Amino acid sequence: MEDIVLETMGLKKDFISPSGDTINVLKGIDFTVKKGDTISVVGASGSGKTTFLHIIGLLDKPSEGIIKYFGKTLEGTKDIEIADFRNKNIGFIFQMHYLLPEFNALENAMMPLIIRGAEFKDAEEKAKDLFDKVNLSHRLYHKPGQLSGGEQQKVSLIRAFIGEPKIILADEPTGNLDKKNANLIAELFLKLNDMTKTSIVMVTHNEELAKMMSRICKLDDGVLLNI
Ligand SMILES: Nc1ncnc2c1ncn2[C@@H]1O[C@H](COP(=O)(O)OP(=O)(O)OP(=O)(O)O)[C@@H](O)[C@H]1O
Ligand SMILES: [Mg+2]
Repeated sequence: MEDIVLETMGLKKDFISPSGDTINVLKGIDFTVKKGDTISVVGASGSGKTTFLHIIGLLDKPSEGIIKYFGKTLEGTKDIEIADFRNKNIGFIFQMHYLLPEFNALENAMMPLIIRGAEFKDAEEKAKDLFDKVNLSHRLYHKPGQLSGGEQQKVSLIRAFIGEPKIILADEPTGNLDKKNANLIAELFLKLNDMTKTSIVMVTHNEELAKMMSRICKLDDGVLLNI
């Protein structure tokens, strides 16, 4: 029981379309993530994968249903406390990297620890160790614009893992990369997962990558199927 990180029950999400119709994107999702799980989420474009990640990542609220982290609902929790919980426990990786262009790779990677008030030296040491693990130590001082797409995504990966979150939510993290780099990033995910036991939920269109995770879930007509 204590190794359940995240649990959703009957999660629903409706949007109102510009023409005023209600779109039932998520129609009741029960989903459990345990410590160390690696899960891929697949599904057609528009099936609600990003919506689902945003909701379980506490960036958006469900229309109905329950989300529990570590066995507790966050119902009634103040937004500022939710933001704090998110910063400490959830790491995000998006298709587009969102690195800050004016900071170098090392500074970008250290950012979550600096925001949290860590000592600069400690954050730097930790980041450098992770650059080493993903073979990127030769690019510490490059700005994002001076890095390749694959290198940028490695920096995003370090930035997501550096704060030792309990879960990482990744939305097509390899979508912009060629096959070789996509595989490399997926392998690094698994390597870091193995080292840290951080759970991973990864949305991907890439079947090969989906199969590398220990469980594949498919969003289909608003429900999540185990496949
Ligand atoms: N804020 C919003 N208002 C209205 N409709 C929305 C809103 N956000 C998403 N939608 C609709 O909800 C559906 C699911 O969108 P979502 O972005 O979750 O899909 P997705 O599975 O991530 O697709 P893709 O694979 O193309 O990224 C889409 O039909 C989209 O148009
Ligand atoms: Mg999406």
